[in-house]
Amino acid sequence: MYYPEEVIRQVIDANNIVDVIGGYVHLKKSGSSYMGLCPFHNEKTPSFSVSPGKQVFHCFGCGEGGNVITFLMKYENMTFQEALKSLADRAGIKLPEENYSEKAREKARQRDTLLSINKETATYYYRLLRSPVGRAGLSYLEGRKLTPEIMSRFGLGFADGARSDLVAMLRKRGFKDEDILASGVAVFDEKRGLHDKFWNRVIYPIMDLSNRVIGFGGRVMGDGKPKYLNSPETPVFDKSRNLYGLNIARRSKAPYFILCEGYMDVISMHQAGFDMAVASLGTAFTEQQAQILKRFNRQILLDYDSDGAGVKAALRNMQILRSVGITPKVVNMRPAKDADEFMKTYGPGEFQKRLDNAENAFMYDIRMAQDSYDMDDPDQRTAFYHLIAQKLCSFTDEIERNNYISAMSRTYLIPEDVLKREVASYNLAGAEAVHMQAQVRSERKKEAETDASGKRLTAVESAQKKNQRLLLTWLSDEPSLYPKVRQYITPEDFDEGLYREAAGAYFHLLEKDFGDALNVESGSPSAGNAAPASVIASFDTEEEQKEAASLFETRIPGLDDKNEKEKALRDVIYNVKKNSLDRNTQMNDLTAVIAGKRLLQSIAKENFTV
Ligand code: UTP
Ligand code: MN
Repeated sequence: MYYPEEVIRQVIDANNIVDVIGGYVHLKKSGSSYMGLCPFHNEKTPSFSVSPGKQVFHCFGCGEGGNVITFLMKYENMTFQEALKSLADRAGIKLPEENYSEKAREKARQRDTLLSINKETATYYYRLLRSPVGRAGLSYLEGRKLTPEIMSRFGLGFADGARSDLVAMLRKRGFKDEDILASGVAVFDEKRGLHDKFWNRVIYPIMDLSNRVIGFGGRVMGDGKPKYLNSPETPVFDKSRNLYGLNIARRSKAPYFILCEGYMDVISMHQAGFDMAVASLGTAFTEQQAQILKRFNRQILLDYDSDGAGVKAALRNMQILRSVGITPKVVNMRPAKDADEFMKTYGPGEFQKRLDNAENAFMYDIRMAQDSYDMDDPDQRTAFYHLIAQKLCSFTDEIERNNYISAMSRTYLIPEDVLKREVASYNLAGAEAVHMQAQVRSERKKEAETDASGKRLTAVESAQKKNQRLLLTWLSDEPSLYPKVRQYITPEDFDEGLYREAAGAYFHLLEKDFGDALNVESGSPSAGNAAPASVIASFDTEEEQKEAASLFETRIPGLDDKNEKEKALRDVIYNVKKNSLDRNTQMNDLTAVIAGKRLLQSIAKENFTV
C-alpha cells in the first residue's frame, strides 16, 4: 500500500458510504441502517445492509462486505489505488503524491496519460465519422443498418486514409511520442516514423466497466484483410479481463447475459433492444472473463456463429464457464450464420423466442457430437448411442441423471430402459471415478464450514467466533459501551489471527476516541463513526476485508425488551471472556484460576446499559 493510514481514513470519512452505494443500489432506511438488493448476488428480498454508523456494508445473503473502498473495488472492478483515487476525487481531496514510490508514481502517471490519449483519440475518430471526411465510414455503417443512436451509444468512429493526422493531433495536445506509441493508437517504423495504427477503417472503441476507453477495434470497410485490427495490450488494455459491451450490459435488467463472438453481434443486439449482450475481445474467452461475469450472478446464454468455428468456440467456452461454476445455455441461430444476420432476417421477436428456447449445454454438446456420426449407418448409430450413455455418466446425481436419460431417449428415440442399462454398465466401470467425484464434492461441502485461513471449524469453535463477532458488532452499534467493556475484555480475548487483529485495531481507535472521557470520567466522546471502516481498510486482501466486515455486521437477535437486551449482551461478554480463560489459563496456576472466576462473577453482576 502506498498511502498512510490517515489518508485512507480521511478518504473514508469524507465519503458517506450510504451516498456512494446509494448511487448504485436502491437503498431503503431500516432501523439504524439501510437495506437493498445485493448487487453481488441474485436475490428478490433485500439482505444487503449498509450501515452509516459504521460505514460498512455487508450482505447477510452472500457474505460480501467491506467498506466504501472495498465496495468500489468489487462493483467497479477497480484496484485499491483506483478506488481510493476515485473517492478522493469525489470528496475533493488531493492525494499526497509523494507517498507513491517513484516507480509506482510513474506507472500511475502513464496509465492516466494512456487513458487520456485513448479518450482524445475516441473523440477524434467519433467527430471524423460525423464530418465530411467520414462519409465512407458512415455509409458503411448505415449499410449495416445501424441507427445514429446506436452508433453514438457505442461511440463508433472513423479513421481516415491519412497516415498521421491522429499522431499530429495528439502531439498538438501535448502528448509525448513515447506515450502515444505506448497507447497503441500509433506504430513506429524507420521509414515513416511515428504514424497512425488505424487508417481507412470504422472504429469501435472498447470500454472498461467504468466507461473508460481502453482500446480500439478497427474494421475494414468491405472485404480487406485483416477484417479487424485491434489495439495491442497496453498497461490499460488487458484483453483477458474485459468484455465488449459489459459497461452497458451490466446495467441491463435482464437476469442473464448473452455472450457472443463479435463487436457487430453485440451492437446489433443492443440496437434490437437486447442490452445484455457482451463479447470477448478478438481473443479467446478466458477464465478471468468468466469470473467477471460470474460476479453478476446472472445466467449466461452462449450465442455463437452457426459455423464449425462457432460451435467449437461455444463448446470450449461452455467448459470455461463450467470451471467457474456457471452452466450456460446455448442459443441456436441457424439457419442464420450469426446473431447480426438473424436479427436482420427474422427480427427481435423471433430472436427472443430463440433465447427462450436456449438449449441446455449438455443437450447441445450431444447434438453437436451427432454431426460426426452417420445415423444411417447402424454401426455409427450404435457408436453414437454408446457415446450418449458414456456422457450421461458424468451426472453423479441420480435424479438429474435419470432426467437426462429420459430426455435423451425422447430426443434420440432410444428405448429408455435400454439406455438406463447401458448407463448402469458404464457406471459400474466408472463407479470408482464417480465415488471419487462424490468424495471431492463432500470435501468441498466441508470446506464451506472453514474460516478464511482454511481451517475447519468445529461447532464449538464457530459458536465462540460468533460470540466474538456479536461483541464487536454490539460495540460498534453502541460505542459508548466501550468504557465498560474494556474493563473486562482485551483484544487478547479474541481468537488469534484476523479476529484478534481486527479487535486490536478497533479497540485502539476506540481508545483514542474515548481516551479523554476515560480519564476524566465525563464528557461525551467523539465516537469515530468510520472506525470499523478503517479497521477493514487495514487488511490487504478482499477476502480478509470481507471477513473483517462480517465482524461488525453480525445479526444481533432483535430484542425489544431493554432487560433482555442487556442480559444478551452480558452473556456475550461473559462467553467471550470465559472461552478466553478456558483457552489460556493453566489449571494448576491457582491464582490465575481464581482471578478468572472473580472476573466472570463481576461480569455476571455488571450492568451493561444499552
Ligand atoms: P467476426 O468475423 O464474426 O466479426 O469475428 P463480427 O464482429 O461479427 O463483424 P462483422 O459482422 O463481420 O462485421 C468475431 C470477432 O473476432 C474478432 C473481433 O473481435 C470480432 O468482433 N476478430 C475477427 C478480430 O479481432 N480480427 C479479425 O480479423 C476478425
Ligand atoms: Mn460475426
